[in-house]
Amino acid sequence: MSSKGLFQPIRIGNHDLKHRVVLAPLTRLRADPDTHVPNDKHVQYYGQRAGNGGGLLITEATNISPMAGRYPGSPGIWSKEQIEGWKKVTKAVHDRGSIIFLQLWHVGRATHAAWLPNNAQPVSASAISISGDDTFGLANEVPRALEIDEIQDLINDYVQAAKNGIEAGFDGVEIHGANGYIIDQFINSNTNQRTDRYGGSIENRARLALEITDAVVKAVGIDKTAIRLSPFSDFQDMYDETPNDTWGYLVQQLKANYPGLAYLHMVEPRFTFEDSAGSSEHNLDHFRNIWKSPFIIAGGFGHDVTGAVEHAEKTGDLIAFGRFFIANPDLPSRLQQKLPLNAYNRATFYGGGAEGYTDYPLYEEA
Ligand SMILES: Cc1cc2nc3c(=O)[nH]c(=O)nc-3n(C[C@H](O)[C@H](O)[C@H](O)COP(=O)(O)O)c2cc1C
Repeated sequence: MSSKGLFQPIRIGNHDLKHRVVLAPLTRLRADPDTHVPNDKHVQYYGQRAGNGGGLLITEATNISPMAGRYPGSPGIWSKEQIEGWKKVTKAVHDRGSIIFLQLWHVGRATHAAWLPNNAQPVSASAISISGDDTFGLANEVPRALEIDEIQDLINDYVQAAKNGIEAGFDGVEIHGANGYIIDQFINSNTNQRTDRYGGSIENRARLALEITDAVVKAVGIDKTAIRLSPFSDFQDMYDETPNDTWGYLVQQLKANYPGLAYLHMVEPRFTFEDSAGSSEHNLDHFRNIWKSPFIIAGGFGHDVTGAVEHAEKTGDLIAFGRFFIANPDLPSRLQQKLPLNAYNRATFYGGGAEGYTDYPLYEEA
């Protein structure tokens, strides 16, 4: 077994990567709780994961506006201070020869009035809440359906955030269209019961994702734009009646209109938040076959390093690693040299300080 696939160069946007091991977008909730400004810990954390260069890092999901969610400790990209904070992060990554994309986030219904300006009601495609309590133990609220004339404002917020990201030195932006946040709430049939041109048919449910992509491409350039999608995901109560057709249409439209996107990123159907890789009757082959260009896949690969290497060799995909990149700042070189991996500590994933964030040892240190 060789690791040729994972360690074969690939071009992303205008950048030549040395390998295909990607830092997955990972919310860690360590920004300032009031200003949502990233700090020196972020600089260290991302700098560590830039490793020996030639890699692609994707940031944690980052709020595009004050209305976009604002979980305690989530970073933002709407204020001058946030842009200045991110500049130090992008510099640290570039100094080590890697590149970094900013993940653009609006959570839609997956937030609380208490976290929004003026205790505003969360918004979504339709007035349908997530069932039960959220991961913070708070009861999920019923959102308000966005008015059709508010949608252009939402698109404008993505555009401004993308421009701010480029000003902060990012090599590109990844539109977060996955995991049950606002774009995904428009795509899935169970969360979108609109009767206007953003609801009903697959074409209508895909419209918001495509309009945001179009606007961001025009604002910052196609080679600096990417999108993440999660067909088949049931996280946060998502369900779609025809996933192959729904995301198949979306990917066909992306391919037809934006073939030069930096990459398309998809989450494996088998991904679960449990400590195993999980299994699924579904896979992403249908979408990979349509897209063909740089394709990033994420979900459960760190539990099965041999499988990851084989998958990359077979498909040419880039693989984004989440939990094992949290625990192994030098993950690319560990995979290349087939070294053992540090275990991750779930208790320190969200919030807190340096523990479980910047203190995981390199292989030499361990
Ligand atoms: C702590 C944690 C935070 C995450 N935050 C994000 C996020 O901000 N944006 C996103 O698109 N996915 C997020 N995910 C999903 C990961 O990007 C990735 O798809 C998932 O962890 C599967 O990869 P893994 O099996 O290698 O961990 C998160 C996952 C974890 C474990």
